Amino acid sequence: MLDPKLLTKFEGQKTPLYYYDLDLLSQTLKAAKTEADRYGYHLHYAFKANCTPEVLRTIHSFGLGADCVSGNEVKCAIENGFDSKHVVFAGVGKSDEEIIYALEKKIFSFNCESMQELEVINELAGKLNKTATIALRLNPNVDAYTHKYITTGLEENKFGINAHEIDAVLLLLKRLPNLRLSGLHFHIGSQITDLVPFKKLCSKVNEFIQLFEQKGIHFSHINVGGGLGINYKEPDTQAIPDFAAYFCIFSELLELRKGQELHFELGRALVGNCGSLISRVLYIKEGINTNFAILDAGMTELIRPALYQAYHKIENLSAGNVDPMQRYDVVGPVCESSDCFGKAVSLPETKRGDLIAIRSTGAYGEVMASGYNLREKAKAVF
Ligand code: LLP
Repeated sequence: MLDPKLLTKFEGQKTPLYYYDLDLLSQTLKAAKTEADRYGYHLHYAFKANCTPEVLRTIHSFGLGADCVSGNEVKCAIENGFDSKHVVFAGVGKSDEEIIYALEKKIFSFNCESMQELEVINELAGKLNKTATIALRLNPNVDAYTHKYITTGLEENKFGINAHEIDAVLLLLKRLPNLRLSGLHFHIGSQITDLVPFKKLCSKVNEFIQLFEQKGIHFSHINVGGGLGINYKEPDTQAIPDFAAYFCIFSELLELRKGQELHFELGRALVGNCGSLISRVLYIKEGINTNFAILDAGMTELIRPALYQAYHKIENLSAGNVDPMQRYDVVGPVCESSDCFGKAVSLPETKRGDLIAIRSTGAYGEVMASGYNLREKAKAVF
């Protein structure tokens, strides 16, 4: 349960609000950094997970690079002190404007996802008299066994260049003088808690490194993306993911060449458990089969349950952990039946005005907020 001492901090505040535990964030970053440093791995923070300035400041203080998927994320990274030499830029739909901006900022790598994109980056770099450093994002066709909306490494997904296109890509690159191929990039999906897909990824990466070598191409860096999941069920007992086990897989299974750097792009694993969405109960309403606890937060502040049927632990901070428990469908005020945070959630008797914490919202919570129903943007508290 979130520390009940926080109640006094939240009492006088306007709800809903996003609460971030910056101490836990620091501890998580320290754990990740310590384990990655063991092997000399390079960590990038996936900006898409959370772009709150205070959160970014803490992440920056641990010396991570930035993984971005839009021009605005690249801009946000640079404005928040991240060195453009440590910025990578992925995404299947980079616009000309975004590419030009990133070229001007001399980012570390464009992670390229299609042949046409390579041609466009080459053309724009030529116009600016620049050389773009690129990595090929390959689709390794590895199943991440996660929700289908957050699986990215299967051939049916829109991401990356497929293996059968490699020869054509290499032929094309010969005609593109303004690109410098320096790496390979992969990302198989998100919220991966069973580590087996990462093992499969390693063997695919080994095959790709070998295949390119046979064609006389050597890479200075390999980027295996992000995707390490968090424990949504037990955000207190396992607040920090097992980074040791995660990095160990790559060190044991990946056959890196001498001097070849290994890069990671972690988002959720770094920030997920340090955030909670704090909300007040507006009404208790008796339904036919269940009672509804209607909150002042909705899918506009946290869309994950509606979009991915995602589980987030729900706690009544005002009532504490007391019996007897009752069951509530915990819903928001938005005019959609999918605006539901959890069905038949066990909570102590819950009343109008109680403060509710929806846990593990540090990743893909605030960044995915919308103004649907003309709702106001919720503030962040630290
Ligand atoms: N690298 C690339 C290229 C990505 O597309 C992503 C996430 C990451 C790294 C970071 O993945 P992470 O370490 O956070 O799993 N909105 C969804 C998650 C979408 C993930 C998109 N890509 C959710 O709420 O579950």
